[in-house]
Amino acid sequence: MKTEVIKIDINNISQEKINYAAEILKAGGLVAFPTETVYGLGANALQKEAVRKIFAAKGRPSDNPLIVHIADIASLDSLVVEKPPIWEPLAHKFWPGPLTMIFKKSSVIPDEITAGLDTVAIRMPVHPIAMALIKASGLPIAAPSANSSGYPSPTLASHVYEDLNGKIDLIIDGGKADVGLESTVLDITVDPPLILRPGGVTLEQLRTIKSDISLDPALANEPETDFTLTSQANLNTDEFLKHKRRDLQGKFIPKSPGLKYKHYAPKAQMVIVDGELDKIVSTINNLVQDIKNSKKRIGILATEQTKDYYKVDTKGNENIVVMSLGSRDCPEEIAANLFKRFREMDEQKVDVIFAEGISKNGIGLAIMNRMKKAAGFNIIKV
Ligand code: TXA
Ligand code: MG
Repeated sequence: MKTEVIKIDINNISQEKINYAAEILKAGGLVAFPTETVYGLGANALQKEAVRKIFAAKGRPSDNPLIVHIADIASLDSLVVEKPPIWEPLAHKFWPGPLTMIFKKSSVIPDEITAGLDTVAIRMPVHPIAMALIKASGLPIAAPSANSSGYPSPTLASHVYEDLNGKIDLIIDGGKADVGLESTVLDITVDPPLILRPGGVTLEQLRTIKSDISLDPALANEPETDFTLTSQANLNTDEFLKHKRRDLQGKFIPKSPGLKYKHYAPKAQMVIVDGELDKIVSTINNLVQDIKNSKKRIGILATEQTKDYYKVDTKGNENIVVMSLGSRDCPEEIAANLFKRFREMDEQKVDVIFAEGISKNGIGLAIMNRMKKAAGFNIIKV
């Protein structure tokens, strides 16, 4: 299949191009489009053959359900059978925007979308191109992130092209996705509502609507204290990389099926070093020293505050790549850069990435969630 790419200017949206893309969706085709979080891979949510194509193009396991995107509140009624009262203040405050809510599904939603669950995830994106496309199609649009399954979500049209060229009908290039991380998935079928996936809307923001909204215990119990360095003598990077890698499958079962897979991951083996900032830097420098004579190519995901502190040890070593995720004072910047940096590290063909942990406040919770999954929960606490 030939994948066509068209550019649409977010500040001057061509209705003609939107209609062209909408026709493809109506005919059962696949269209990748920008949203404020990440690029989505859209199909007619009411047509199971179209939905199946999404799974095929992404190589997505069929037990991982999709989010249905709508452009107006009125569309909700035919898709769900029950609206717990909390939906309304949440929608009022956060829709359109990066919040996905889980409802009991109606019979118009094919099982292909929900992977057999009796619930359906619904989101109203705020990106004007996404909005215009959904409106023009007149359909609810199923759209997972437009990456190959397991890879980092795309924040640029070029990322979608890398992963899905030849597998989908159309890519709308509408510039970069601003938030850079996916929507927050909130289960409102339970009381108090549970965050199944942290994302663009923060826990703190959600709690302004209902103070007892909390994290799915499966998230809170993630094995992040997996590996603690007790002394420098224990620091053997190769050993660590070989033996401490955790296989998630079977260790815990989160309610959001997508979260049980290794995810968002660069091709390189990734290790997070988390704790006090000066110790993070010295530990990463030690880890680099430890393996720099091996043939491994090493990536360091640093921050504006720390990136220069790796130069001393890495000077003259062509096998070390240092990149900044952004400033610790602006976690939104780190969120917006994270997946792009993962892909850039892959382009640099690094074998190992040492990534600095960051604070879990606000959007930091979602950033660390994605980093931990990308690292297969390899975390060194310092
Ligand atoms: O920001 C986003 O949410 C992006 C853009 C394109 O809208 N979409 C996205 O979709 O991230 P996807 O498929 O990559 O992630 C959907 C997540 C998965 O973790 C999935 O398991 C969960 O939502 N999910 C979907 N339906 C669910 C349901 N009925 N119950 C629990 N979790 C569900
Ligand atoms: Mg995804």
